[in-house]
Amino acid sequence: MTPSDADYARAIELLRAGELVAIPTETVYGLGADAANPAAVAKIFAAKGRPADHPLIVHLAGHDAVDHWAEQVPAVAWELMETFWPGPLTLILKKQAWVPDAVTGGQDTVGLRVPGHPVALKLLRRFAAVAGEHAGIAAPSANRFGRISPTTAAHVQEELGDQVPLILDGGACKVGIESTIVDCSRGQPVVLRPGHIGPTHLEAVLGLVPLFETATGAPRVSGSLEAHYAPQTPMRLVGSERLLDFLNAQRHKGGRCGVICHSQPPQAGFPHCWRMLPADPVCYAHELYAALREMDHAGVDLIAVEALPAEQVWAAVADRLRRAAAGAGQG
Ligand code: TXA
Ligand code: MG
Repeated sequence: MTPSDADYARAIELLRAGELVAIPTETVYGLGADAANPAAVAKIFAAKGRPADHPLIVHLAGHDAVDHWAEQVPAVAWELMETFWPGPLTLILKKQAWVPDAVTGGQDTVGLRVPGHPVALKLLRRFAAVAGEHAGIAAPSANRFGRISPTTAAHVQEELGDQVPLILDGGACKVGIESTIVDCSRGQPVVLRPGHIGPTHLEAVLGLVPLFETATGAPRVSGSLEAHYAPQTPMRLVGSERLLDFLNAQRHKGGRCGVICHSQPPQAGFPHCWRMLPADPVCYAHELYAALREMDHAGVDLIAVEALPAEQVWAAVADRLRRAAAGAGQG
């Protein structure tokens, strides 16, 4: 699980040469390239099949590099960095003029994050040591566009293996869903994508309940597309109280149904894949994408996912499940 010195050296060599390297972070695996090299960044879009106007997150080794990439950084953004970096929080800030359009999708803002995974941090520090102290690695999640984000090196291999010369293996991602994104570029901070760092964590720093962006206009955040994080098998969210009836109905129709559940153990008479996830949002997030991926390979006709409680603590995983269901079955 721990990359060797030679692995790091090879990763740096590839990044310096404008090639891609897949890297573990505490949220999901990323597909990385030198963020200051537009030709290298273009390879990310080609490998993922991602639309060119979707901006990327730049990963940095530390706060010191922020001013190199962003300007007019508000005090509240520094406070968020102090509290949550290294960690699963991305800040959207006004970009410095030099930052390539390839990274920002042509916008006047840039997404920055110092990741909390030791392998990512070590790589970023080593990269900064040779490429300049402010060097950053642009990295979206290392999946094909619209698909389930990878939370292990094997998932990256399965998604993009033939297109990435090196995948650094840092084990299974702790958090399991993508970083919380907070836009600090236009006055009051706005959450663009919910994540492990939730409203109560943010409120403790901001002093007020953060706003959430709900509008689905131009996709400044591809994670805000209605269909995203999706398995190839059709998927339905089913309320707990209706789940057994729903499965019975599917069985009568002769369909093979896979079940992802958090409150009901496998039921007698429902032999097909039944995956219990923990009834705790943090542990659930850690296992969610692996469970979806496993179901996608199970040869079922439909994935039934038990709908989640409506409480705020479940909001980030509920968001991913809703979008996964909307995009499922199109592969
Ligand atoms: O946890 C994560 O954030 C992972 C790991 C690898 O760091 N990365 C990730 O990247 O989820 P990606 O590209 O799959 O999602 C990043 C999101 C995208 O939806 C993108 O549109 C948004 O961040 N984003 C990046 N820069 C932005 C900007 N300047 N304005 C608004 N949204 C931005
Ligand atoms: Mg993604």
